[in-house]
Amino acid sequence: MTRKLFKAREYEEKYSKEITKEERPDFHLTPYVGWMNDPNGFSYYKDKYHLFYQYHPYDTNWGPMHWGHAVSEDLLHWEYLPVSLACDMPYDKDGVFSGSAVELDDGRHLLMYTGVKETQVKRAKHPQVRQMQCIAIGDGKEYEKYENNPVIDETKLPKGASLVDFRDPKIVKTSDNTFLAYMGSRDEQKSGQILVYESKDALNWKFKSVLIKNNGRLGTMWECPDVFELEGYDVLLASPQDVTADQFEGLTGNVPLAAVGHIDKEAQKMHDEDFQVADYGMDFYAHQTVLSPDGRRIMIGWLQNWDSCSNRIPDTKWYGQMSVPRELHIKDGKLYQTPIKELENYRENQVLKKDFVLQGQDQTIEGLEGRTIDTTFEIALNEESFNKFEIKFASNANKNRFCSLLYRKDDNTITLDRLYSGTQRALMHQKSCKLDDGASTLKLRLVLDKYSAELFINDGQKVMSMSFYTELDAQEITLSTDGKVKMSVEKYDLKM
Ligand code: FRU
Repeated sequence: MTRKLFKAREYEEKYSKEITKEERPDFHLTPYVGWMNDPNGFSYYKDKYHLFYQYHPYDTNWGPMHWGHAVSEDLLHWEYLPVSLACDMPYDKDGVFSGSAVELDDGRHLLMYTGVKETQVKRAKHPQVRQMQCIAIGDGKEYEKYENNPVIDETKLPKGASLVDFRDPKIVKTSDNTFLAYMGSRDEQKSGQILVYESKDALNWKFKSVLIKNNGRLGTMWECPDVFELEGYDVLLASPQDVTADQFEGLTGNVPLAAVGHIDKEAQKMHDEDFQVADYGMDFYAHQTVLSPDGRRIMIGWLQNWDSCSNRIPDTKWYGQMSVPRELHIKDGKLYQTPIKELENYRENQVLKKDFVLQGQDQTIEGLEGRTIDTTFEIALNEESFNKFEIKFASNANKNRFCSLLYRKDDNTITLDRLYSGTQRALMHQKSCKLDDGASTLKLRLVLDKYSAELFINDGQKVMSMSFYTELDAQEITLSTDGKVKMSVEKYDLKM
């Protein structure tokens, strides 16, 4: 073991003890200690889900990246394993960036990641970043970096591709026993593209194709690709940077993308892609999937975003969390997401109120409260009359802390808002999502886990997620309307 890896393990062993279970969310994975961003190496291996993550153990801010590691049997209860990769080689001395994992035929677990190094280039004033793809192989706990790393460097880039932005390999094994790796890249126009590399042994790679070119449609660089088949479609997930409001339903910055279309498997070219927003909330990015043993495609994302990650609790020893794992489906060409069904095993204390008429402001329902809950609201849109319907949650007795979600009938939008959550930062604290017209019922499933809210609208047709760091005594939920709303509520505590 290298000195750097040893040091990181010693550090996390010691300082993770200072974080109590109560200080963490109940089922959303947080870093063992320090900082977490993207999910990495999300895989099912030796009867367990493995989730690695971008990790800086020494600080709650981003820094030289390591790979943290956790395993789970149900994707809701996590066991921390020792940090698996440190930036301890000449080719990754400035960061072990995002990547993925695959099981080899001989039973070993292979990790493919981006090594980052700064290097002095001839005639350049300052050192230049170089990103290259590397391999580590292990047994689910200990990983050894491959002696011939990097396996893909700048000499294997197609013409015009950026030397600086070339990262986040997603490795997949195809049915004819070849490996493909999809990578985020930028072309000569400084616009994102996804590159495809091919290998017979996952060690020797050659460039195959450009899967898709952004051509200025969505932001600049596209990070963190994932590619899979789903119910007759091919889906590309990616995380475009620098999106402008005119490009993607009014969203800006780092926006999680799901492109649903078809891929010519021989040529590895995507066509007929439909760009969909994978999450309309403030905090969701770098999403990755795994195939469960029973064939479900399950997605997890970083439940933060580069544009909002200064919103936090002062003085905690962890920062960053993963989303609830979400099952993916396609209906009429659109990606749907629902929390994994295992979550329902932890429902307790049902509160059920059917077909009542809500009227007035800040109404409460007995038992409708809590910060680790799973609640579904069904609202009849054509009965009774109202324009606004609002749910305030994580609200305290003084009413100076709350988050809210507001539905407006006149423009058929939902707005998620955390301005009064106790945030000390002047970031964007509100996001809206326009719903599809024509539905007679609005179904809102709201999953809270202490410091996060994930809203699944109309059976997961659209999703909005955010983190918020309100004190935990803010537990109340109230309902308001400017008219009369015929609705039902079904609420459960989640007892993990
Ligand atoms: C996405 C990302 C990746 C990179 C990693 C670095 O959030 O920027 O492209 O590999 O984070 O931590």
